[in-house]
Amino acid sequence: MKGLILSGGKGTRLYPLTYTNAKQLIPVANKPVLVRVIDSIRDAGVEEIGVVIGQTGPQIREVLGDGSKWGVKLTYIPQESPDGLAHAVKISRDFLGDERFVMFLGDNVIQGGIGQLISDFAHSDWNSQIVLKEVENPSSYGVAKLRPDGSIEQLIEKPKNPPSNLALVGIYMFDPTIWEAVNSIKPSWRGELEITDAIQWLIDAGRSVYPHVHKGWWIDTGKPNDMLEANSLVLEELTPTISPEATIENSQVDRRVTVERGAKIINSTVRGPTIIGENTVIENSYVGPFTSIYYNVRVTNCEIERSIVLENSSLSDLGARVQDSLIGRYVSLQHSDEKPKTLKMNVGDHSSVSVV
Ligand code: TTP
Repeated sequence: MKGLILSGGKGTRLYPLTYTNAKQLIPVANKPVLVRVIDSIRDAGVEEIGVVIGQTGPQIREVLGDGSKWGVKLTYIPQESPDGLAHAVKISRDFLGDERFVMFLGDNVIQGGIGQLISDFAHSDWNSQIVLKEVENPSSYGVAKLRPDGSIEQLIEKPKNPPSNLALVGIYMFDPTIWEAVNSIKPSWRGELEITDAIQWLIDAGRSVYPHVHKGWWIDTGKPNDMLEANSLVLEELTPTISPEATIENSQVDRRVTVERGAKIINSTVRGPTIIGENTVIENSYVGPFTSIYYNVRVTNCEIERSIVLENSSLSDLGARVQDSLIGRYVSLQHSDEKPKTLKMNVGDHSSVSVV
């Protein structure tokens, strides 16, 4: 089996953070989503992985390198423009050859591993297997209609009258029959080669396409609130550790807090689940649950809760608690005299905000 991670695309729903940066590199609990995807595929025993990259390819290559740091072998597959998930598969033909493969969207976070799924598919004679998840609002997703024998009969994009509550998660398994499918379908109304059309093509051609219903949580980190939700869920499962090279002085740090190397917590209260990144300084501040603060950040005289702060940013003397916020890289937030009561922000990289 080989792996294919889709890490191109535009990331428009996460603007401005993704104007210049790959959305798949945004960290959840201080680890980029893309690295979490690589970990899941590797832990399932697949080490040869293709990574489809777009405009942000150079950054992705810089962070992931040849993959040896994560115990995998990576091959980069440049996609000239984001012409759809099935297009990304189509251009990966040389890398994948005639092997069965697992395809994972590079911006999805899933609870638990995919080991069982991969071994089921590797040992089956099914042509394809699709991960589905029960959702409350199926009309917002691609939804599967199942036959009485459990196989998939139809995939419907955002149905008004959903035939089930089983939505497509961004994980798919294929065998070489997918090549004929991706070469036969035509672009959709939005000009993309859709993976759902390719799968429907397989079904209509009489191929066997089966579901795997995922029981844990799954988040597509497409929008800021999804990022915060994924961050909370992952933090909840993190085994907390305090680096021996961290400094904690005159502070209350509860036991569900992870403090990374070189971080300093001074005169502060930190409640978990929370992670404080390398060389970050928290001083005279309160850091509340579900917060991830990445590396080289300074938080002084502030309160912050259920937020993500990316590297090299600074927050100081803010008069109200920062909450439910996604703060980019090199952001500077400081106090000015008039008062907002709460702060709810979605601030991009290299921004500078003065709160009035
Ligand atoms: P999407 O979230 O569907 O698309 P996007 O990344 O362009 O985001 P937005 O809708 O906010 O503009 O993509 C899912 C994943 O697949 C994501 O990791 C990007 C990747 N992708 C490709 O690699 N190639 C493509 O042609 C497309 C459409 C997506």
